[in-house]
Amino acid sequence: MKATTQVAIIGAGPAGLFLGHLLGLEGIDSIIVENRSREYVEHRVRAGVLEQGTVDLMVQTGVADRLQREGLVHHGIELRFNGVGHRIPLSDLAGGRSITIYGQQEVVKDLIAARLAGGRDIRFEVEDVQLSGIAGKRPSIRFAEAASATTVDCDFIAGCDGFHGIARGAIPDGVLSHYDYDFPFAWLGILAAVAPSANELVYARHERGFALHSLRSPTVSRLYLQVDPGTEVSDWPDDRIWEELRVRLATRDGWVLRDGPVIEKNVAAMRSFVVEPMQFGRLFLAGDAAHIVPATGAKGLNLAVADVYVLARAIAAWYRTGSSTLLDAYSETCLKRVWRAQEFSNYMSAMLHRYPGTDPFRDRLQVARLEAVSTGEEAARALATNYVGLPLP
Ligand code: FAD
Ligand code: DHB
Repeated sequence: MKATTQVAIIGAGPAGLFLGHLLGLEGIDSIIVENRSREYVEHRVRAGVLEQGTVDLMVQTGVADRLQREGLVHHGIELRFNGVGHRIPLSDLAGGRSITIYGQQEVVKDLIAARLAGGRDIRFEVEDVQLSGIAGKRPSIRFAEAASATTVDCDFIAGCDGFHGIARGAIPDGVLSHYDYDFPFAWLGILAAVAPSANELVYARHERGFALHSLRSPTVSRLYLQVDPGTEVSDWPDDRIWEELRVRLATRDGWVLRDGPVIEKNVAAMRSFVVEPMQFGRLFLAGDAAHIVPATGAKGLNLAVADVYVLARAIAAWYRTGSSTLLDAYSETCLKRVWRAQEFSNYMSAMLHRYPGTDPFRDRLQVARLEAVSTGEEAARALATNYVGLPLP
């Protein structure tokens, strides 16, 4: 089968779905091809913190009805160390901006629903996606679906297929520079059917390792533990997780962690990764396909949205005026924000995690840094400004 469109999008994660949505609003036709099922992508539990800019964009583009009903707006976070909590008043420090707690898979559900309601093309469970002609003016993608092969000719291809996707690999050898760092720890994350034990997120530093108390709703908690890389979910029965969380999150004044049935459990590696540039010919990479940040800064999903915001604007300008100025500047525009987020996420990670072989001297430095952020207005303001998110470019 042969088909044509203006933009072929690979991947129905936040980057691909948001890009399709923004292009649709500009009257630009697209197809999204995804190798997993709709059910799978709508239930994949990952991030949960939306920056102010991400929320604003969802509101402005008409996909925020449920977000505005169910999302939890937070104006502060807590840093907990040496058994004492210190509140960082994000909104006071960052010009009134806030974060909203709303699961990534809820964003994905809302964008898929909007796409289907608009009658726009999205294919799940496709196989063997291949790209060709990306150096020329008429690239194409090819994929298999229900035993038949389809080729779609287009003007642009967007590689929104995540870190393990295939789009990045279609760029000829020698074009991309890779920058990466693997952290010497991973995160074990759980979702639990229990009311959150704190009203705001708690980032806790403890000699046994980092712990994070987050939430999804008034009845669902989301918690994370720093674990060794290579840890298997089966190494951590539920009781062991709750016990460890209780130790790492304990306060001197007897804060109580409520436990409950664990409904989801996974281990995520912590890494930094960036490719430069994020484009080659008519192929543009966006989101995790181009960069990964350690989760401590809660930036991954928000960076994906920022990329496609820039890309949609550049593609729209090309169709409107024929000028490729914004497209040519795509990587440079995005990479500034990507490296700022990379720096912030590394700063947060270094401040809060236990590093293997840490000596008492480094321990003290880590606590001094936390003290500086908790008691010093300038350090706290820098954290708050980055955490709620820099304005979209
Ligand atoms: P993805 O969400 O990865 O979407 C890519 C899509 O492409 C997927 O649907 C995938 O199935 C599809 N795809 C892949 N290959 C192909 C192919 N060959 N053909 C067609 N489709 C393909 N960030 C945080 O801020 N906080 C967190 O707690 C957090 N937890 C995470 C946990 C895990 C296990 C992972 C992997 C990431 C986590 N992140 C977290 C990061 C955040 O979720 C990502 O930054 C975000 O999903 C990026 O969106 P994306 O659309 O670029 O990529
Ligand atoms: C969540 C994830 C993060 O990576 C983070 O820094 C804060 C919260 C979450 O899933 O709720």
